[in-house]
Amino acid sequence: MNITEKVFGTLPCGEKVRIFTLSNDSSITVKITNYGGIVQSILTPDKNGNIADVVLGFDTLEEYINKSPYFGCIVGRYANRIAKGRFKLENTEYVLAKNTGNNHLHGGNVGFDKVLWEPKISQSKDSVSLELTYLSKDGEEGYPGNLLCKVIYTLTCDDELKIQYHATTDKTTVVNLTNHSYFNLAGHDSGKIYNHMIQIFADKYTEVDENFIPTGRILQLAGTALNLTRPAKIGDGIGKVSPGFDHNYVLNNDNASVVKAAEVYEPSSGRMMQTFTDEPGIQFYTGNFLDGIKGKNAVYEKHTGFCLETQHYPDSPNIPDFPSTVLKPGMQYSSQTTYKFAVKHE
Ligand code: BGC
Repeated sequence: MNITEKVFGTLPCGEKVRIFTLSNDSSITVKITNYGGIVQSILTPDKNGNIADVVLGFDTLEEYINKSPYFGCIVGRYANRIAKGRFKLENTEYVLAKNTGNNHLHGGNVGFDKVLWEPKISQSKDSVSLELTYLSKDGEEGYPGNLLCKVIYTLTCDDELKIQYHATTDKTTVVNLTNHSYFNLAGHDSGKIYNHMIQIFADKYTEVDENFIPTGRILQLAGTALNLTRPAKIGDGIGKVSPGFDHNYVLNNDNASVVKAAEVYEPSSGRMMQTFTDEPGIQFYTGNFLDGIKGKNAVYEKHTGFCLETQHYPDSPNIPDFPSTVLKPGMQYSSQTTYKFAVKHE
């Protein structure tokens, strides 16, 4: 196990940004920068031992600052959408940025993906960790409360990238944190993800309107094109859910324990990735809005990466029946997600 660091670039304000390289003994190498907590690359071997980078991204800090569609970052204070950019808490209405049509997305104009986190590294026999801390000030992007956040990325000797999220507040607020990595298990530069097989361990999903805002109804997946309870080829289903998958799956984990949420397998490389989480939902997004953006030695077109964003449901602050995203002073927000990499020899 090893962890090293170097300078990634300099912010316009003059602050230095670092990039950390976490590696284990089975050839997995993960690069994470403390700008936005972005996972910049994940190198993993395929079934023949050939190494490829399985996440979309950029080579430079400037590109992450100027044009990133949330590649690899931590999303917060509230991942996903909040309808009309407003919500009420304890009789006060809070107004947020409307940064996607008439709605709020991924924490606003300067979300947690665009701030500098304080890094701290640690190492044990079986793992290496990067702990990132960020204090989101009371009123930042319209949200109430000073929110002290900690996100710990850990690479283990079992080929897992584990992400633990913690937060505390001094005023009642809402929190929903996730990671927005776009994966392509054939390699970030290998084009459409249609050959990937995916299974999501969910029987239901949250219905949305034409602006991706939940209607409040939780519907059965059985019999719909969104049903992924059995392994399905992404390319087979994607045409039926135009412009692609972008849905919150309601995971089968009623008691908030850690469960397997998804499993993805890419046959040509043999690479497999399992996702485990204690969150109640997962957004399966197939890069529907990628439009030929130039990245690390590649041009990323529509459907060239997929995200598995573990989360509470979109717009929960406005839908009392959904699991609560409210955090009060004295409470501890904690959640965890693990992406586990493997290869299948078939
Ligand atoms: C959302 C998409 C959105 C994308 C932006 C995803 O998490 O589900 O609707 O367009 O993020 O990158």
